[in-house]
Amino acid sequence: MNVGYGPLRKTDAARCAELEMMLFEGDDPWPEFSFVRELAAPHNRYVAARVDDKLVGYAGISRLGRVPPFEYEIHTIGVDPAYQGKGIGRRMMTELLGEVGPGSVVYLEVRTDNEPAIALYTSLGFDKIGVRKRYYQVSGADAYTMRRDAQ
Ligand SMILES: CC(C)(COP(=O)(O)OP(=O)(O)OC[C@H]1O[C@@H](n2cnc3c(N)ncnc32)[C@H](O)[C@@H]1OP(=O)(O)O)[C@@H](O)C(=O)NCCC(=O)NCCS
Repeated sequence: MNVGYGPLRKTDAARCAELEMMLFEGDDPWPEFSFVRELAAPHNRYVAARVDDKLVGYAGISRLGRVPPFEYEIHTIGVDPAYQGKGIGRRMMTELLGEVGPGSVVYLEVRTDNEPAIALYTSLGFDKIGVRKRYYQVSGADAYTMRRDAQ
Protein backbone atom coordinates (compact mmCIF):
# COMPACT_ATOMS: atom_id res chain seq x y z
CA MET A 1 0.00 0.00 0.00
CA ASN A 2 1.40 3.36 -1.04
CA VAL A 3 0.49 6.20 1.30
CA GLY A 4 1.28 9.76 0.23
CA TYR A 5 1.61 12.61 2.73
CA GLY A 6 1.11 16.30 2.03
CA PRO A 7 -0.94 19.35 2.93
CA LEU A 8 -4.66 19.06 3.64
CA ARG A 9 -6.63 21.25 1.23
CA LYS A 10 -9.93 23.10 1.29
CA THR A 11 -11.25 20.61 -1.27
CA ASP A 12 -10.69 17.84 1.34
CA ALA A 13 -13.10 19.45 3.83
CA ALA A 14 -16.17 17.41 2.84
CA ARG A 15 -14.25 14.11 3.08
CA CYS A 16 -12.82 15.17 6.47
CA ALA A 17 -16.35 15.80 7.73
CA GLU A 18 -17.35 12.33 6.47
CA LEU A 19 -14.42 10.75 8.34
CA GLU A 20 -15.25 12.77 11.47
CA MET A 21 -18.77 11.28 11.43
CA MET A 22 -17.24 7.81 11.34
CA LEU A 23 -14.59 8.46 13.98
CA PHE A 24 -16.24 10.84 16.46
CA GLU A 25 -19.94 10.07 16.22
CA GLY A 26 -21.51 11.17 19.50
CA ASP A 27 -18.63 13.54 20.24
CA ASP A 28 -19.47 16.59 18.20
CA PRO A 29 -17.83 15.68 14.88
CA TRP A 30 -16.57 18.72 12.97
CA PRO A 31 -18.69 19.69 9.96
CA GLU A 32 -17.21 20.67 6.62
CA PHE A 33 -17.22 24.40 7.36
CA SER A 34 -15.08 23.90 10.47
CA PHE A 35 -12.34 22.38 8.32
CA VAL A 36 -12.66 25.18 5.77
CA ARG A 37 -12.29 27.75 8.56
CA GLU A 38 -9.37 26.01 10.26
CA LEU A 39 -7.51 25.50 6.99
CA ALA A 40 -7.79 29.22 6.25
CA ALA A 41 -6.13 30.24 9.54
CA PRO A 42 -2.43 31.07 9.07
CA HIS A 43 -1.43 29.75 12.52
CA ASN A 44 -2.70 26.23 11.72
CA ARG A 45 -1.01 23.43 9.81
CA TYR A 46 -2.93 20.40 8.60
CA VAL A 47 -1.52 17.31 6.95
CA ALA A 48 -3.22 14.69 4.80
CA ALA A 49 -2.58 11.01 4.14
CA ARG A 50 -3.78 9.72 0.78
CA VAL A 51 -3.99 6.33 -0.89
CA ASP A 52 -4.58 6.59 -4.65
CA ASP A 53 -5.94 10.13 -4.21
CA LYS A 54 -8.39 9.00 -1.53
CA LEU A 55 -8.03 10.91 1.73
CA VAL A 56 -7.53 8.32 4.49
CA GLY A 57 -6.11 10.50 7.26
CA TYR A 58 -5.90 14.07 8.46
CA ALA A 59 -4.31 15.85 11.40
CA GLY A 60 -3.78 19.43 12.47
CA ILE A 61 -1.74 21.54 14.85
CA SER A 62 -2.26 25.12 15.93
CA ARG A 63 0.39 27.63 17.02
CA LEU A 64 -0.72 29.78 19.92
CA GLY A 65 0.47 33.27 20.78
CA ARG A 66 2.08 36.02 18.76
CA VAL A 67 5.66 35.97 19.97
CA PRO A 68 8.05 33.11 20.68
CA PRO A 69 8.39 30.86 22.52
CA PHE A 70 5.11 29.67 21.03
CA GLU A 71 2.93 26.98 22.50
CA TYR A 72 1.22 24.49 20.22
CA GLU A 73 -1.94 22.44 20.40
CA ILE A 74 -2.79 19.31 18.45
CA HIS A 75 -6.27 20.02 17.11
CA THR A 76 -7.36 16.74 15.70
CA ILE A 77 -6.16 13.51 14.15
CA GLY A 78 -8.14 10.81 12.43
CA VAL A 79 -7.46 7.80 10.24
CA ASP A 80 -10.09 6.00 8.16
CA PRO A 81 -10.95 2.83 10.17
CA ALA A 82 -10.06 0.67 7.15
CA TYR A 83 -6.50 2.08 7.27
CA GLN A 84 -5.85 2.22 11.01
CA GLY A 85 -2.96 0.32 12.57
CA LYS A 86 -0.68 0.79 9.56
CA GLY A 87 1.53 3.60 10.83
CA ILE A 88 -0.43 6.46 9.25
CA GLY A 89 -1.37 8.17 12.52
CA ARG A 90 2.21 8.01 13.80
CA ARG A 91 3.58 9.45 10.56
CA MET A 92 1.11 12.35 10.57
CA MET A 93 1.92 13.16 14.21
CA THR A 94 5.63 13.13 13.37
CA GLU A 95 4.99 15.55 10.50
CA LEU A 96 3.10 17.94 12.78
CA LEU A 97 5.66 17.76 15.58
CA GLY A 98 8.32 18.57 13.00
CA GLU A 99 6.73 22.02 12.81
CA VAL A 100 7.43 22.70 16.48
CA GLY A 101 10.54 24.67 17.39
CA PRO A 102 12.98 23.50 20.09
CA GLY A 103 11.69 25.85 22.82
CA SER A 104 8.00 25.01 22.50
CA VAL A 105 5.63 22.80 24.45
CA VAL A 106 2.73 20.98 22.80
CA TYR A 107 -0.64 20.22 24.39
CA LEU A 108 -3.57 18.05 23.42
CA GLU A 109 -6.78 16.66 24.85
CA VAL A 110 -7.80 13.03 24.48
CA ARG A 111 -10.72 10.99 25.82
CA THR A 112 -9.62 9.09 28.90
CA ASP A 113 -10.90 5.83 27.32
CA ASN A 114 -9.09 6.28 23.98
CA GLU A 115 -6.30 3.78 24.57
CA PRO A 116 -4.89 3.67 21.01
CA ALA A 117 -4.51 7.46 20.85
CA ILE A 118 -3.06 7.68 24.38
CA ALA A 119 -0.52 4.98 23.50
CA LEU A 120 0.47 6.88 20.37
CA TYR A 121 0.88 10.19 22.20
CA THR A 122 2.81 8.61 25.09
CA SER A 123 5.23 7.01 22.64
CA LEU A 124 5.86 10.47 21.17
CA GLY A 125 6.80 12.01 24.52
CA PHE A 126 3.45 13.30 25.78
CA ASP A 127 2.58 12.92 29.48
CA LYS A 128 -0.81 13.15 31.16
CA ILE A 129 -0.90 16.31 33.22
CA GLY A 130 -4.55 16.50 34.25
CA VAL A 131 -8.15 15.46 33.73
CA ARG A 132 -10.82 17.75 32.31
CA LYS A 133 -14.18 16.51 33.51
CA ARG A 134 -16.94 16.25 30.89
CA TYR A 135 -14.68 17.95 28.34
CA TYR A 136 -16.64 16.38 25.49
CA GLN A 137 -19.93 18.18 25.86
CA VAL A 138 -22.21 15.90 23.88
CA SER A 139 -21.13 12.56 25.35
CA GLY A 140 -20.01 14.01 28.70
CA ALA A 141 -16.77 12.02 28.47
CA ASP A 142 -13.68 13.14 30.39
CA ALA A 143 -10.42 14.11 28.72
CA TYR A 144 -6.80 13.95 29.71
CA THR A 145 -4.73 16.98 28.93
CA MET A 146 -1.35 15.73 27.71
CA ARG A 147 1.79 17.79 27.33
CA ARG A 148 5.05 17.29 25.48
CA ASP A 149 7.86 19.35 26.99
CA ALA A 150 10.09 21.55 24.90
CA GLN A 151 12.70 19.39 23.17
C1 LIG B 1 -5.58 7.29 17.09
C2 LIG B 1 -5.37 7.06 15.60
C3 LIG B 1 -5.25 8.41 14.88
C4 LIG B 1 -4.06 6.28 15.40
O1 LIG B 1 -3.81 6.17 14.01
P1 LIG B 1 -3.29 4.79 13.38
O2 LIG B 1 -2.87 5.07 11.98
O3 LIG B 1 -4.31 3.74 13.57
O4 LIG B 1 -2.03 4.49 14.32
P2 LIG B 1 -0.63 3.85 13.93
O5 LIG B 1 -0.84 2.63 13.09
O6 LIG B 1 0.27 4.91 13.37
O7 LIG B 1 -0.10 3.39 15.36
C5 LIG B 1 0.57 4.31 16.18
C6 LIG B 1 0.50 3.88 17.61
O8 LIG B 1 -0.83 4.02 18.10
C7 LIG B 1 -1.08 3.00 19.07
N1 LIG B 1 -2.18 2.16 18.59
C8 LIG B 1 -2.71 2.14 17.34
N2 LIG B 1 -3.75 1.28 17.31
C9 LIG B 1 -3.86 0.77 18.55
C10 LIG B 1 -4.75 -0.16 19.16
N3 LIG B 1 -5.74 -0.74 18.47
N4 LIG B 1 -4.58 -0.44 20.48
C11 LIG B 1 -3.59 0.15 21.19
N5 LIG B 1 -2.72 1.03 20.66
C12 LIG B 1 -2.85 1.33 19.36
C13 LIG B 1 0.20 2.23 19.24
O9 LIG B 1 0.94 2.85 20.25
C14 LIG B 1 0.86 2.46 17.90
O10 LIG B 1 2.23 2.33 18.01
P3 LIG B 1 3.03 1.09 17.32
O11 LIG B 1 3.07 1.42 15.90
O12 LIG B 1 4.35 1.13 17.98
O13 LIG B 1 2.22 -0.12 17.61
C15 LIG B 1 -6.53 6.22 14.98
O14 LIG B 1 -6.71 5.05 15.74
C16 LIG B 1 -7.87 6.96 14.89
O15 LIG B 1 -8.16 7.63 13.90
N6 LIG B 1 -8.70 6.79 15.93
C17 LIG B 1 -10.03 7.40 15.93
C18 LIG B 1 -9.93 8.91 16.03
C19 LIG B 1 -9.24 9.33 17.31
O16 LIG B 1 -9.47 8.76 18.35
N7 LIG B 1 -8.39 10.36 17.19
C20 LIG B 1 -7.66 10.89 18.34
C21 LIG B 1 -8.48 11.92 19.04
S1 LIG B 1 -7.62 12.64 20.40
